[in-house]
Parts: sequence; C-alpha cells; structure tokens
Amino acid sequence: MSGADSITITRPDDWHVHLRDGAMLRDVLPFTARQFARAIVMPNLSPPVTDTASATAYRERIMAALAPGLDFTPLMTCYLTDDTDADDLARGAAGGVFAAAKLYPANATTNSARGVSDIRRIYPVLARMEAEGIVLSVHGEVTDPEVDVFDREAEFIERHLRAIVGDFPQLKVVFEHITTQEAVNFVLASGANVAATITPQHLHINRNAMLVGGIRPHAYCLPVAKRETHRLALRKAATSGHSCFFLGTDSAPHLRAAKESACGCAGIFNAPFALENYCAVFDEEGALDRLENFASLNGAAFYGLPVNQSTVTLERAEVAVPAMLRAAGEEIVPFHAGETLGWRLVP
Ligand code: DOR
Ligand code: ZN
Repeated sequence: MSGADSITITRPDDWHVHLRDGAMLRDVLPFTARQFARAIVMPNLSPPVTDTASATAYRERIMAALAPGLDFTPLMTCYLTDDTDADDLARGAAGGVFAAAKLYPANATTNSARGVSDIRRIYPVLARMEAEGIVLSVHGEVTDPEVDVFDREAEFIERHLRAIVGDFPQLKVVFEHITTQEAVNFVLASGANVAATITPQHLHINRNAMLVGGIRPHAYCLPVAKRETHRLALRKAATSGHSCFFLGTDSAPHLRAAKESACGCAGIFNAPFALENYCAVFDEEGALDRLENFASLNGAAFYGLPVNQSTVTLERAEVAVPAMLRAAGEEIVPFHAGETLGWRLVP
C-alpha cells in the first residue's frame, strides 16, 4: 500500500462503454458523466449503429439525455458489418462523427448477430481505415464452437489479430477489454499502433468469483474472467504506466432480471464506481503515481485527442456500493454490489 490519502489527476476518459438507449441511457449516463470527460460509446444497439446517419442520431440522443451543465462528450463508433460502406465511414470520421469503428466477430457477444462473418470480407474497409487513420476497436474472441470459452481470446490473436496487424501495419488497433497474459504479451510485442483497454472487473476478479460457491451472474461478462495468473498479468500491465494500456470500463448494463436468468446476459455494470475501482487497484499495487497515465493520458494520446484540462480528486474513504440501483424503472445490480470500497471520487 502506498501512503497517499488523496490523489488528483487529469480528468479521465472511458475508452469503452455501453450507454444503451432510451430509458436505460437516461439512467446510466449520469454515472459515466460524473467521472469521465469523454467516452468511446459502443455501437451494439438493436439495431446496431452501422453508419454516419445512425451515429449522428444516437449522439444527439445521448446529448439530449445529458443533464445540463455536465461536461461530457460522447465519441461515437461505427459497428462494422460484412456490408460496411467505407466511403460513409470515412466521411463520418472526417466529419467528426466517428472516433473509431468496432469489429465484433458475428455472434461473439450481445447484439453482435450483424457483426463480421469473415474478417477477410472487411479487408477493403480496413485498408481504407488504415489510410484515413481511423482506429479499429476489436472484440477479440473467436466464435468457433470447438474452442473453449476460456481460450477464445488467445485463439483470436493467433487466428486473426496477428494477421490484421501484419497486413495493415499502419492501422491503429485497440484490443478491447483484454483478459489474458497472451493479450498483454501480444500488445507489448506490437508497435505503437496497437493498444489495449482493461476493465475494472478483469483487474479485480478471476473466474472463481463467477463460479465458486454458486453461480454468480453479475460477475459474468465477455470476454469471461480467466484464472488468477491472467488477472495478475493484467494488473501488472495496467499499473506499468506503459502507453499501450488504458482505461476502458466496458460497463455493460443489463437489468437484474436479464442477468439472473437461465440464460443470463453478458455484461457487468461497473459505471457507478469505475474510477474508485481502478484507484484501489493502483493503490494495492503501489502505483498510484501511474493512475493518471492509464486513466487520463495514454488513451487520449493513442486516439490523437487533446488531454482534458480539468482534474479530479480521489480520496481514501469508505464508500458503500448499493446492493441495487434502478434503471429504466427496474432493478439493476452494480459491480461490487453491497460491498465497501476504499476510495471515493470527491464530488
Ligand atoms: O460482457 C459484455 N457485455 N461483453 C460485450 O462484449 C458486450 C457487452 C454488452 O453489450 O452487454
Ligand atoms: Zn464492450
């Protein structure tokens, strides 16, 4: 444990979040906007956000849901499909609508049915993105039913990511929500065009949290948490200060009923206390002095965006996480529900 009882850093950004739409958007957005100046907003709505027009409309709905006076900018992503129109994507990026385009392998996760069926099919789009400097954001898991769910990320590196990075050496690639030592190694061995986001849950829990003493659906997300050695590798990577690792919560709200089900949805709703959770990890690793790199500097540099001007302060103080919150008129369970955290974001 390091000694500091408070820490002030440049206001951070969330480089991967699911804000949803409608009443859910209205109720989860304040949690993200409380902490982060900007967020990369994932496009896996139903129907997905696949072009500039739908992204522009979605961005307007987010801005309309934002409480007045809150300083928050949503950064939009384009959901890549087999039929993505590269001209529209390039226009949307040049026009300041798209900050990135997201590759979901078809059927890898929530609302990914319209994702890419064969990465070769979008090679012309990737070539255009490389030429235009558009960031590729990747859900890195194979969907082959023969591959064990715990091996799907490592297998994706070997089957697809190595080829993408090799074939498009100038393409900027974010390997999202990495969960394995293999992913850490891959990113470290790649050039400056490859980076990764790391979630709070993958720094805090391993797969036992999901499966020991009963099945715990609120600890289930995709990619699924792996064994302890991987969690430790992720903690080392995140707290290293290395420019290729940055904050992306992957906060993915689903109503309690949809999680506590015979076929529960994947996703952990960590937005309410994301920053407090990251801060605890950096404190435990004796790396509070590197929190700012991870949370506020590395992502902006990778995306080529300016660093935020304002600051936030976290202090060592007990914070009780509610057992339950309300969203869209129903119950939703936050990450660490009912537990006490050791750091508090000063309002
Ligand atoms: O756990 C997850 N939830 N992983 C994803 O990739 C998608 C997300 C969601 O949208 O619910
Ligand atoms: Zn996600």
